Amino acid sequence: MEQYIMKGGNSLAGEVQIGGAKNAALGILAAAIMTDEDVYIDNLPDVNDINVLLEAIQHIGAVVSRVNRHAVRINAESIHAISVEDEYMRRIRASYYFIGALLGKYKSAEVPLPGGCNIGSRPIDLHIKGFRALGAKVEIERGVVMAHAIDLVGSHIYLDKVSVGATINIMMAASLAEGQTIIENAAKEPHVVDVANFLNSMGANIRGAGTDVIRIKGVNRLHGTEYSIIPDQIEAGTFMCAAAATRGDVTVRNVIPKHLESISAKLKEIGCEVVELDDAVRVVGGNRQTRTNINTQPYPGFPTDMQPQMTVALALAEGTSIVTESIFENRFKYVDELARMGSNIQVEGNVAIISGVRRLKGAQVNAPDLRAGAALVIAGLSAEGYTVVDEIGYIERGYEHFEEKLRSLGAVIEKVDSQKEARKFMLKVG
Ligand code: UD1
Repeated sequence: MEQYIMKGGNSLAGEVQIGGAKNAALGILAAAIMTDEDVYIDNLPDVNDINVLLEAIQHIGAVVSRVNRHAVRINAESIHAISVEDEYMRRIRASYYFIGALLGKYKSAEVPLPGGCNIGSRPIDLHIKGFRALGAKVEIERGVVMAHAIDLVGSHIYLDKVSVGATINIMMAASLAEGQTIIENAAKEPHVVDVANFLNSMGANIRGAGTDVIRIKGVNRLHGTEYSIIPDQIEAGTFMCAAAATRGDVTVRNVIPKHLESISAKLKEIGCEVVELDDAVRVVGGNRQTRTNINTQPYPGFPTDMQPQMTVALALAEGTSIVTESIFENRFKYVDELARMGSNIQVEGNVAIISGVRRLKGAQVNAPDLRAGAALVIAGLSAEGYTVVDEIGYIERGYEHFEEKLRSLGAVIEKVDSQKEARKFMLKVG
């Protein structure tokens, strides 16, 4: 079983290139099957979730040609099934995007209920509400979402809760519906905008993505396109928090600084120096960091996907910080692991009360999910001595060459898959 083993204590320093946004790529790849023409997608992150989704696209009959690790050509003309295999789909949350994409294109979709990270109950009632409003009949039978329509007809849809997945999914189906769809209380995340831009580049007519109200005029068909995915806000934020927690000096390159504003603002509040350049952000950790409060919110608020990484930085800041998780109800499981490293954090419901400590101590810990896994690596790099992070399959779902990028910043970290290799690492590092 693969693990990360690291010796903490080095301040990370240098520059790191950020890859394409995983969550944008998942929506874009699913949307790519909505045309029979060639679609070329670039700046794709080479991470497991993306590779699983590509396998599933291939499995339903589309031709997927990997141009290189970061570019793919998809041709969906030969799709022969509207039913997506269980085996692939239960492994990732974003499988739900096949419902919107297949329903839009073929007016029919059968997709197992999504899997993904266990960070709380993750219903898809809003997605279903949207598809029904467009005229589809949607049932769940034996764990499979069955959505069928004679015609999809544009509609006025109010989302009771801001949902990234529901916004993107409804946008996809509505792109090939008859007439106009209006989504109110839509999600405004950068990847919602990126999927909308991608669909528009295929001939869709979507206006207002990035605001609360998205208007979609249905078109008859979508055509081929070439598209480059935006940089990953969360990967960038993770390295920014790593710079803060290790008191380092890291420049994240190939980013859109505007997408990182909530993270930059919080790092400044705790005493880091944050410099925004055209397509880069530099974070200087500095020795003295102090408390702050965080409340996760839909974009442009502080992202829930950055909550664990920021909590690690706060665990090492002076004073008592309060972190409120407003999006998912079960996203503090990693706190028990951090406690094994000497942190002082009390969790009450969806609130974590963090009393900063001077130092963390290395320990053997388990990654409970993707972002919490990355946070535990940051903790390990900030801690005294050796840390081993288990269950790194979670981390590899969303971070490309994580340990290599960290090593290029001076981290002492390696991926190992046996006790023998771990011992060898410790002997080498001393
Ligand atoms: C996406 C991201 C995930 C991120 C989350 C919030 C992908 C593949 N995943 O997840 O990394 O943490 O956005 O930024 O892009 N909800 C409902 N009913 C629904 C849908 C959602 O009640 O039908 C609730 C959820 O339980 C949650 C909130 O709405 O409390 C937001 O969820 P949503 O934005 O939909 O998250 P995901 O699309 O699952």
